[in-house]
Amino acid sequence: MNKPNILEAENWIDIWHHYYNAEIELEKSDPNAICISSVDTNGMPNSRYVLLKDVTERGFTFYTNLTSQKSIELFQNGKGAMTWWSRAQNKSVRVQGTVDQVNDAVANAYWDSRKEDAKISALISKQSKEVENREQLEEEFAKAKLEYAGKNIPRPAHWSGIIICPLRIEFWESTSEYTSRLHNRIVFELKNDLWQKKRLYP
Ligand SMILES: Cc1cc2nc3c(=O)[nH]c(=O)nc-3n(C[C@H](O)[C@H](O)[C@H](O)COP(=O)(O)O)c2cc1C
Repeated sequence: MNKPNILEAENWIDIWHHYYNAEIELEKSDPNAICISSVDTNGMPNSRYVLLKDVTERGFTFYTNLTSQKSIELFQNGKGAMTWWSRAQNKSVRVQGTVDQVNDAVANAYWDSRKEDAKISALISKQSKEVENREQLEEEFAKAKLEYAGKNIPRPAHWSGIIICPLRIEFWESTSEYTSRLHNRIVFELKNDLWQKKRLYP
């Protein structure tokens, strides 16, 4: 009997979990690294990696400084894109969508789960501003660490979770006949609140 093919699933999230659960076993170093793309007011695209922290039917959540370039561009446009690649499985997921923010309770819960040093570095970061040198950065970090020793470190209001809420998701996977390049490309598109699924030529 043939093994059921996950690409036959009717819900994109089932395929995502299938890909990602396998990835956690195979890739020990940042299996959740995703590339986030935004566009500035001149139409210049901009991409960078972040760590994906949650995936639900609503979308893909990562955490960042809300004064960062990515945050400004994503909220200015109300649109963004995400790409995930698995070297181990030779698969990729590509998402385009609208942009939303998690509520304070969700942001606080994730903040509380972070290690103290990660909290301190988020707290002192003057996101993407020029810093004199490495020593300056380390001095500010040490000062804040001392200041907050044994105290609760509050989540800065400018640090939260951004959700890429998908409108289009593509699952790409190479097949065992790699040399033929007959790869699988399955796309889900949200039309009138309903997900439509189709296959593309590779
Ligand atoms: C593997 C990896 C994971 C990263 N994870 C995050 C993250 O979760 N959140 C974040 O704000 N920056 C993260 N960064 C740093 C960003 O790539 C980026 O340098 C920073 O957020 C500033 O981006 P921006 O100026 O385009 O907003 C990560 C970098 C790498 C290489």
